[in-house]
Amino acid sequence: MNILITAGPTHEPIDPVRYIGNRSSGRMGAALAAAAIAAGHRVTLVLGPIAFAPQADVRIDVETAAQMQEAVLREFPAHDVLIMAAAVADFRPRRFSVEKLSRAGGFTIECEPTEDILAAASGIKRPDQRTVGFSLESTGGLTRAREKLVRKQLDLIVYNPAETMNSTDIEPTLLYPDGRVDSLPRDSKDVFARLLVARVMDLFR
Ligand code: CTP
Repeated sequence: MNILITAGPTHEPIDPVRYIGNRSSGRMGAALAAAAIAAGHRVTLVLGPIAFAPQADVRIDVETAAQMQEAVLREFPAHDVLIMAAAVADFRPRRFSVEKLSRAGGFTIECEPTEDILAAASGIKRPDQRTVGFSLESTGGLTRAREKLVRKQLDLIVYNPAETMNSTDIEPTLLYPDGRVDSLPRDSKDVFARLLVARVMDLFR
């Protein structure tokens, strides 16, 4: 299978030296890429700014949500499945300051929402393709994850509690459109990645 995976955060520039970002390490997406390659699949990794070099057959480096969207929508038609493990920034500054902002007087950043990459990819999904998302929640947990599964027209969503965002472990619950719920025990992201690759393959049965 040709698998398109996104990983890491996105950075949304404020001025030439500052950005809005998040604490995503990219470990979950990197573990998925390694597990998929080990299982004999071909992986294209669309990667936000992270501090290490994950395995991939093709690697596309991006910085912003807009660049990630452009890469995902361009690549998706040549892939069987999209797994969005990236922590896409939800907001970006409405204006970019070409000049480095000065400390004097403080400043307010007005933000606008970024594009929903996963929803856009599901919008162009063919019947032979699948989309998989992650839902990292601090409150509302499974209910919010299920709502995202439906809103983004996904074939599978992985709910994980926000506490495990930067951990080597994950305690995930898998949610399917037919209402199936599969709660998994806490384990390393590497072990979970192998299991998830197998569950993603089951989506094609
Ligand atoms: N996602 C995306 N594009 C965005 C934001 C999120 O494709 N602009 C993807 C993430 O990669 C993840 C899934 O959507 O797989 C859920 O991300 P989440 O941030 O939980 O969802 P949001 O749509 O941002 O919802 P909210 O801000 O209401 O929590």
